[in-house]
Amino acid sequence: MALSNDVRTRRRLGHAGLILLAFFHCGRVWLSNIGRARAFRISRAAQPEDSTADGTDWDQELRRVTERLKQKELQEEGLSATKPLFRQSDEWTVERVELQDGVPPVGSVLMANPRSFLDKVTPVAAMRTGWMPSLESSRRDKARLPVVLITRRTADSLQGVLLGSWSGKLLGDMDAQYFMTRPLYIGGVNVSGLSMVHSYPEMPGSWELIDGLAASDDFNMACDWIENGPGSALRFKFFWNQVVWRMDEIDELAPEQGIWIPVTVSGDLLLREPDSSFEDPLWAQYALKAGGELKELGERFGLFPPDA
Ligand SMILES: *[C@@H]1O[C@H](CO)[C@@H](O)[C@H](O)[C@H]1NC(C)=O
Repeated sequence: MALSNDVRTRRRLGHAGLILLAFFHCGRVWLSNIGRARAFRISRAAQPEDSTADGTDWDQELRRVTERLKQKELQEEGLSATKPLFRQSDEWTVERVELQDGVPPVGSVLMANPRSFLDKVTPVAAMRTGWMPSLESSRRDKARLPVVLITRRTADSLQGVLLGSWSGKLLGDMDAQYFMTRPLYIGGVNVSGLSMVHSYPEMPGSWELIDGLAASDDFNMACDWIENGPGSALRFKFFWNQVVWRMDEIDELAPEQGIWIPVTVSGDLLLREPDSSFEDPLWAQYALKAGGELKELGERFGLFPPDA
């Protein structure tokens, strides 16, 4: 191998990217030193979004970036509107799933139970995801509850990534030389660096989550895969850091705790990016599709749009 992995990563992520990574890293150490209260504020700041859909600065910024994204995607992929890369939305599903040995299976998605996040906050679960109660009471703010995709189970932990917590950055903003139009999501508060969820289980170094959906953490491999292999950049999602449950913490996931509700979400629905900033938070979207208890909870807590 001509170049060490480090050098290749540096080339591919670019200088600004590295500085940002270093900042994230130092920031994390700093955070753990000054305590969790601030970590909350930081991760909250990482997902500012709009509180109403009526055109705040952030709202406009998001819309601008979304448009930029779409245009670039069309150019890069040479896609026509008649050739969608993703399956139609009527095939997207969200369904309840059973625990396996008391643990949600890899590939399942944990939906925060509003009873434990809005009614009476369960601090440990909230801290684990960096979530904090909203001071504003808009419906959309309340509906921005944690949604975690479980990506790995090891001998001593269960790991996942927060879905839908956008950092406000694209990989290109970090000077990455590949995947420039892809958004970077905050995967959680536990340090793990960059990881990916994508639709290529056959990509070396990947592990399958559900049918047609895989995870990996080798950025170089992903670059090779879209440069020389069959991969499309549009079928990757990027996460910085993750959510972790140690094995002695997984009691939190037991159904009788009423903290998390496990579901499975079809791969295309998981991989898609929002079309606009007017889209509802993921929690509300998934809960409506899931129906049953989740829909009832969403209704009870007023988390759905009036026309839902
Ligand atoms: C994850 O991060 C939290 C907050 O800093 C920390 O308390 C916890 O020990 C970390 N868990 C693991 C498994 O690293």
